[in-house]
Amino acid sequence: MDISFLLNGESVELREVPATVTLLDWLREQRGLTGTKEGCNEGDCGACSVMVTDAKGARTLNACILFLPQLHGKAVRTVEGLSGPNGTLHPVQQTLIDYHGSQCGFCTPGFAVSMATAHLNGDTNHNDALAGNLCRCTGYAPILRAARAAADVPAPDWLKSDQGFFCPEISSGGAGAAGRGADGPPLPCLAPQTTDELAQLYAENPDATLVAGATDVGLWITKQLRDLDKVIFLNRCADLQEITETDSTIRIGAGVTMDRVHALMKDHHPSYAEMIRRYGSTQVRNAATIGGNIANGSPIGDNPPALIALGATLHLRHGDIPRDLPLEAFFVDYGKQDRAKGEFVEAVSIPKQPDTLRVYKLSKRFDQDISAVCGAFNLTITDGIVTQARIAFGGMAGIPKRATHVEAAITGLPWTEATVDAAAPAWAQDFSPMSDMRASADYRLTAARNMLRRALAEDQGHATRVLEVRP
Ligand SMILES: Cc1cc2nc3c(=O)[nH]c(=O)nc-3n(C[C@H](O)[C@H](O)[C@H](O)COP(=O)(O)OP(=O)(O)OC[C@H]3O[C@@H](n4cnc5c(N)ncnc54)[C@H](O)[C@@H]3O)c2cc1C
Ligand code: FES
Ligand code: FES
Repeated sequence: MDISFLLNGESVELREVPATVTLLDWLREQRGLTGTKEGCNEGDCGACSVMVTDAKGARTLNACILFLPQLHGKAVRTVEGLSGPNGTLHPVQQTLIDYHGSQCGFCTPGFAVSMATAHLNGDTNHNDALAGNLCRCTGYAPILRAARAAADVPAPDWLKSDQGFFCPEISSGGAGAAGRGADGPPLPCLAPQTTDELAQLYAENPDATLVAGATDVGLWITKQLRDLDKVIFLNRCADLQEITETDSTIRIGAGVTMDRVHALMKDHHPSYAEMIRRYGSTQVRNAATIGGNIANGSPIGDNPPALIALGATLHLRHGDIPRDLPLEAFFVDYGKQDRAKGEFVEAVSIPKQPDTLRVYKLSKRFDQDISAVCGAFNLTITDGIVTQARIAFGGMAGIPKRATHVEAAITGLPWTEATVDAAAPAWAQDFSPMSDMRASADYRLTAARNMLRRALAEDQGHATRVLEVRP
């Protein structure tokens, strides 16, 4: 595939780029830009953070799980591109020095890039902005002080130039975008521009691997060393990234990234938004899509429990043929989803409803960790009685799953401790979870039961505690 993008202010044109070369490898091995570090090579540490700007603005992404073709039409800044003419330091670079924010320095380029992106966007929530950057020796307090100290200094002009880079013909495709020979067979790397084009290409190439944000697929390459014969990139299908609201429904396109789902849910279901704040990191949420999180069928994916509890409908499509099903019906068994070859997730929609949703994510670390258990409770209480209950969990079975026996055990009863206690036997009818390195089966069952108790405690006005770092 032929691509062009801006790298540290200079135009780059590449021909016949293989589908799965990562930006990190290319920067370090082809361009000699070794300021961007390789730490974990799986999206966890942020040492490889780069700033990527497109028509939606500037955001931080992990270069280790970002494939070069995903950059077509965008502007990339590495740590080498943060400083200005004659080596003038970016304000965050200067405050990292002033506030002693670096010791061995391995994490420092990644921190500087994440800090510079937050600085450019006027984002002063530094705890969240930097939660995806790990430091093993300095400690976070000096780094956070440095971020705060830079906040009042204006963003340097040289970074703003990235925002004017886009010309319509590039951001909507440009050279090599379609990835098809004029009359010949499809090439191994395809990049449709619309959902209609995607539907046709995938129906014709059902063995292709769809790549959306690559936060799962990236690891197949960097950790499992897999070869992908044929790849279809979804990131240029602008219409797959739409959010549509009517009086009765919110429809979220499969290509909507988790940072946008977070912003959307703040207004509709704040507890869901609060859970997403702990979904991966800023870098991961900026890349990961809701469609990828559903389609991968993971039993510990964090969206499905919340969406199932909200009564979501999944919209699939094969060629011209759409198919809708309740989201819970999509998850058939561990590793098995109700999706035919050549069929893809087009969108998910949820009915608009009064907000009664509570979502609890339980993981070993507060930030940037996969759930051991994720529970979602959508309970309607009328005059003190549970009149409707939809409860769903991740981490409790081989698939995201509803707690139908628990729902039945509490519906029609007073919303009290006694009802929660009486429902105790129903948990084992719904779930027989596994033990693994995240949690034992007993721990999972106990935690799930206690989440229902927590929902009751919150309804009774008891505050629950959230720990935050406040240096
Ligand atoms: C560091 C890190 C932290 C993470 N933290 C979390 C977390 O806290 N919670 C959580 O739930 N997940 C987490 N994940 C997992 C991952 O981010 C999510 O599953 C993500 O939503 C996947 O979306 P994606 O767009 O990146 O998918 P991709 O990696 O592009 O694709 C994933 C799978 O879905 C398929 N696919 C993608 N889009 C479609 C579509 N529209 N139709 C059909 N198939 C499709 C792909 O072919 C592939 O099989 C984390 C991952 C990393 C690397
Ligand atoms: S090297 Fe750790 S996130 Fe990329
Ligand atoms: S300064 Fe050593 S890892 Fe952060």
